[in-house]
This record gives sequence, C-alpha cells and structure tokens, in this order.
Amino acid sequence: MPKPRTVMVVAGAALLARRALRRRIRSSPLWPLPALEEPVSGRPRSRALRLLVTSREPVAEGVVRLRLEGHDLPRWEPGAHLDLVLPSGLVRQYSLCGDPADTSSYTVAARLVPDGRGGSREVHEQVREGMELEVRGPRNRFPLVEAASYVFVVGGIGITPVLPMLRALPQGVAWRLLYCGRDRASMPFLEEIEKLGADRVLVVEGLPDLDAFLADVPEHAAVYCCGPEGLMGAVAERVPRVHLERFSPRASGGGAFEVELRRSGRTLTVPEDSTVLAAVRAELPDTAYSCEQGFCGTCQQRVLEGEVDHRDELLTDAERGDSMLICVSRARGDRLVLDM
Ligand code: FES
Repeated sequence: MPKPRTVMVVAGAALLARRALRRRIRSSPLWPLPALEEPVSGRPRSRALRLLVTSREPVAEGVVRLRLEGHDLPRWEPGAHLDLVLPSGLVRQYSLCGDPADTSSYTVAARLVPDGRGGSREVHEQVREGMELEVRGPRNRFPLVEAASYVFVVGGIGITPVLPMLRALPQGVAWRLLYCGRDRASMPFLEEIEKLGADRVLVVEGLPDLDAFLADVPEHAAVYCCGPEGLMGAVAERVPRVHLERFSPRASGGGAFEVELRRSGRTLTVPEDSTVLAAVRAELPDTAYSCEQGFCGTCQQRVLEGEVDHRDELLTDAERGDSMLICVSRARGDRLVLDM
C-alpha cells in the first residue's frame, strides 16, 4: 500500500502534467479546433466536430473517462449521447456524463468489452490525451421527462446517461435508483451517486431483485432503465412504460428472407438471427460499414424492390423511400433487391 503522502505526490504530478498538456494544446496554432467544413458522411443532419482529448482517466475497473475539449460546443440535455469517430474510422455512441452547461468540453465514459466489436478496445488501447477525435451530435433519444417522481434502474456503464439526470432533478422531487454491477470496483461514479442521496440509492453487486424494487412503483412515476439488454428486458416486462436507452436497435428477428444483389448477380439468404450486412459481407467483403448499429450511415444501400422494415433512427423519410441501412434494417416481406 503506498503511504498517503506518496499518493498525494503522485496525484499532484498527474494534475501538473494534465495542466501542462492543456497549456501546450492551447498554445498550439491549431487551437481552437474548427468544426469540420462538411459533416463526415456528407449528411446535413449531424454536425461533425473535431475535439481534443485533454483527459483520459480510469474511473472504475475497465472504465475510462474521456474529456473532449472544443469551444462553443452545441448544448445538450441529460440523456444525450455523442457519436465518436475512433482513429480506425469505427463509430461508437457514448452517453454524455459531464455538465450540460459546459460548452467547452464533453465528457464520456467507456467500458472495455474484451469480446465486443472492437470499439471499446480501441478507446481503451489507442485513444490518448492530446489526440484529436471527430464527434457528431449530441443527440438525445433518452430525454428526462417531467414527472412527479422518478425510478431509475441501471446496470454498470448504463449509469452514464442517468448521472446528469440525477444532477438535474429539481430539489425536493422524489427519486430512487437501483444501481447494479458485477462488484463495486467495476461500477463507475459510485461515490458521486451515493453522495447525491445515499438513502435513495440501492447498490447491488450481482443480480438485483427487480420484483422487490419495482413492486410499488407509483403510477405517476417516470421509470428509466439503462444497462445490459437482459436487464432492460426484465424491467420492461415489469413496467412496460419504462424509458429505455438502447444503443443497438434490434437488428435480428422477424424471420429469414432473400436479398438479391442486382449488379453482382447474386441472391443471398438472411437468416432470422443475422443481418443483411453480414450476409452481404460474406459475398462482398469490401462492403463499407462502421457502427453496425444504424447510426453512422456508412452501410446505406439503394433498394430497387421490396418493402423495408427500417430499424434505424438516422434516415429521413425521403431517404427511406429508396434506401436502407443494411446493418440493422430488414425486409418486411420475403425478398429485397439491392442496387449492389
Ligand atoms: Fe453504421 Fe450501418 S454501419 S449505419
């Protein structure tokens, strides 16, 4: 165990180093970083910004917090998220967990998912202080509604959109939170959460007793849940009106169907438990994609025939008239024809 004085010296050195980095960044001729002239994908719907990573620090086991600085940044409301364009070009979504009134920086936190799709590993292994990252947004699909009282159920990193909500609740409003995780060491922002109201926060290591926690939810209460899919499904079973933060649309399910790739002259089968993108890439490995969650637009393809079950929240109605995002959207019937 290091002695307290040693810890203070180390912490002080880290602070000085961070300040020095900030001074170096700010004296750079590149500062302040300009917004990109054009949005990344050429789409007018989401402004792209280049921000500087000025802090990267662990906040729990397997969780790092990033501070991204810019100037005159778009404002956001609790529940909002950013799209981060990682150095490899992968796009991933992260909830904003800092102060909405701060227009000079955004704060996000990312959990390492070792067997995930690569985004979290890239954040943990490659994103460093002093690096410039491109972001889009913020966007909010999980807004805090006005209610007489609030009930929150959160699993692990799902605390990130809820933290600014808790800070923003009006004084005197009733709320309670069930915060569960593998163990306390892996749960970010635990200390701050408990300071916000220890008597209102139930911390559970392991599986929570949802029946007990949700047994007496008042009719007028707004209920929010963010966390693993299993937790959100279990809460939705008990409280169907729950507000869920789901970063991944349901890309599978709804039956198998055929996709004809007209220009390539191939016809593929998309199984119920897979996606059009996966089937297409098995035949055409160079097909472009990035987020695989229906929010970056990289995988957009023109549809020549068939009715699409659009599962993204990105395309406009006009775009949906003749195109689809093949990473999440599916066929309504048994066949689609794509212009590829
Ligand atoms: Fe991003 Fe499909 S890969 S929307």
